[in-house]
Amino acid sequence: MPPPRVFVTRRMPGDALDRLAQHAEVDLWPGDLPPPYDDLVARATQADALICMLTDRVDAALIAAAPRLRVISQMAVGYDNIDIAAAAAHGIPAGHTPGVLTEATADLTFALILAVARRIVEAERFVRDGHWRTWDPGALLGVELRGATLGIVGFGKIGQAVALRARGFGMRVLYTTRTPVTTDLGEPAALDDLLRASDIVSLHVPLSAETTHMIGERELRLMKPAAFLVNTARGPIVDQQALVRALHEGWIGGAGLDVTETEPIPPDDVLLSAPNCVLLPHIGSATLATRSRMANMAVDNCLAGLRGEPLPHRASTNS
Ligand code: GLV
Ligand code: GLV
Repeated sequence: MPPPRVFVTRRMPGDALDRLAQHAEVDLWPGDLPPPYDDLVARATQADALICMLTDRVDAALIAAAPRLRVISQMAVGYDNIDIAAAAAHGIPAGHTPGVLTEATADLTFALILAVARRIVEAERFVRDGHWRTWDPGALLGVELRGATLGIVGFGKIGQAVALRARGFGMRVLYTTRTPVTTDLGEPAALDDLLRASDIVSLHVPLSAETTHMIGERELRLMKPAAFLVNTARGPIVDQQALVRALHEGWIGGAGLDVTETEPIPPDDVLLSAPNCVLLPHIGSATLATRSRMANMAVDNCLAGLRGEPLPHRASTNS
C-alpha cells in the first residue's frame, strides 16, 4: 500500500515534518503565504490528511470536495477557521494543540498589559525620535499594576495562566467562565460587573457565534474611562469599529491587541491611527519551543487519525 498523503499548508518549526515523513508522503505548500483557497481545496482533494493553520479556511465545501480526507489537524489551539460540524458529518475528526501554548500566550498577554500600562512603545519611539532631553518627573507616566484589577474574560487554561502571573504583580483578579472552576486565583464575576470594575480587561475565550463581537459599544462604554482592553484571543471577539471610537472618544484608556478582525490588518485600517493602541501580528504562541511542540502535536493528531485511532487532542463541536 502506498503511504498516505498529507497536505501541510505551511513549513513548521522543529523536526515534526521529518517525523511525519517517516510515515507519510508529505505534500508541503512551498509558499511563505498561506495557499489561496482554490489551491487549498485542490491539494486537499488529493490528500488523506490535512495539517492546517488558523490562516486556512477549511469550510464545508472543501470538506465535501475531499473524498479521501480522514483527518484534519490544526496547528493552533483555536480552530474557528474549521467547520467542525461539517467534518463530523463526513466522519472526519479534527485535532488542535491545546495546553502547549498556554504559557507563551499568557506571557505575551503580560507583555501587552505592561506595554499599554507603562507606555513602552510610545516611550521607545520617544527615545529614537530624539525627544529625550532629561529625566522628567512628569513625563510618560503610566499606571501601576499593583492593586489594579484585572478582568479575565474566559477562564480556561490561558486565562488561568494569566491570573497566576497577575498574582505575582499584586493585582486583584476577576474572571468570567462558562464552566465553574475551583481556584483561589481570582473571583468569578458576571461580564458586565467585570467590565465596570476592571482596570485592565483581557480576553481569553475561543471565537464562536456566541463570542463574536462579545465586546461591542455597550461593553466598551461599561469599562472605566482609564481602563485598557487586551486581546490575545481572536480579533472578531471585539467589534473593532466600536473599539476605534472608544479609543478616539476616550470611553477607555487604551488597547493592546495581538489579534485583529482582519489579519493582517489592512494598511489603511483606521485602527492604525487610533490613539493609545499597541498592535502585534498574532504572535501569542511565537516561541521556538512552543511552535515546535504545536507542530509535533499536530503531527501526532494527524498520524492517529490516519491509523484510525482517537486523536490525542480532538477539537470539539461545541466550543
Ligand atoms: C493561536 O492563535 C492559536 O489558536 O493557536
Ligand atoms: C482558551 O483559549 C483557553 O484555554 O483559555
